[in-house]
Amino acid sequence: MLIETNVNLKAYNTFGLPATARTLIRIYNEADIEALLGHPDYGPAPKLVLGGGSNLVFGGAPQGLVLKVEIMGRRLLAETEEAWIVEAGAGEDWHDLVAWTLDQGWPGLENLALIPGTVGAAPVQNIGAYGVELETRFDSLDGVDLRDGRRFTLDAAACRFGYRDSIFKQELAGSGMITRVRLRLPKQWQPVLDYPDVRRECLKMADASPGPRRIFDVVCALRRAKLPDPRFLGSAGSFFKNPVVSHRQWEAIQAGDPGCICYRLADGRVKVPAGRLIEACGWKGKAMGRAAVHAGQALVIVNQGGATGREVLSLARAIQESVQDRFGIHLEIEPCVR
Ligand code: EPU
Repeated sequence: MLIETNVNLKAYNTFGLPATARTLIRIYNEADIEALLGHPDYGPAPKLVLGGGSNLVFGGAPQGLVLKVEIMGRRLLAETEEAWIVEAGAGEDWHDLVAWTLDQGWPGLENLALIPGTVGAAPVQNIGAYGVELETRFDSLDGVDLRDGRRFTLDAAACRFGYRDSIFKQELAGSGMITRVRLRLPKQWQPVLDYPDVRRECLKMADASPGPRRIFDVVCALRRAKLPDPRFLGSAGSFFKNPVVSHRQWEAIQAGDPGCICYRLADGRVKVPAGRLIEACGWKGKAMGRAAVHAGQALVIVNQGGATGREVLSLARAIQESVQDRFGIHLEIEPCVR
């Protein structure tokens, strides 16, 4: 492990928000965690686990220790008749893993290309894009409970995955550190073309039965066109979850906006695109201080340069109030606020 003091965290969160860690500890393997938890100065302190910092908003300075997970390594752990099981260290870059599995001839992650962040962060919010959620490609993970040093292995059911949700945002929030993740990539590969944008782009290329590489390229192009590149414009991706509303609320929205799409859930409720509601309230491209609503995707708040976490959260609150007033819908913040 490597211990550093008074570390500027601006480069460690994709929003580029200012915050200082009094102590930042780089964790390279499981033995580092054991040594850390047994250390009299560090064991009892509160801890913030940091991956790629791509789903995080610093509201102020983080309390206690910041643990930067840098556990690396990726390998084919097992091959069965049905699937390839791939294991990766929590510190690996998610997109690099997606690209590497495709290069190896193990498809299945292509719809999840170009999502910023690390492998260890992917199960925390059950990342999802273009019709695929991580849980459908997930095998199991290893982690450590930072309260008592207990190591654990969880399968998909134990992770309690939901829409941008898991046990790591609930019971294990602030205490469960993911160290390794295993993915199950079925050999019976099927393209996932449910998402209209992906289907349309493939058809434009006269490709009605695209392979995984084509889907990867299409997803990368779609994301590049809509979402800001965190290297140039800070953000944490979608700032709000798409809200789930009753059928009655959905009818009211549709009456005012017949073009609005929706995702119907099995229980009769409806998930509506928050970006559309935010745009309808006139926020697209608008700034408040140095934080702004992205001009290409209203669900994304960006740092126009030098914004603080407070500015970002003030803008978020103003958006929540508008959407509440106009549609009677509460928008829930998606990234972790610390
Ligand atoms: N829309 C608008 N205006 C906007 C943005 C969106 O009208 O400013 C409409 C679009 O026209 C479209 C619908 O809303 O009809 C859906 O938009 P989009 O395809 O961009 O997807 P989203 O629902 O806004 C979700 C995820 C994204 C993911 C995309 C693609 C959440 C919170 N966000 O966004 O995930 O990339 O679908 O699958 O579920 C993230 O989580 O950080 C993220 C980027």
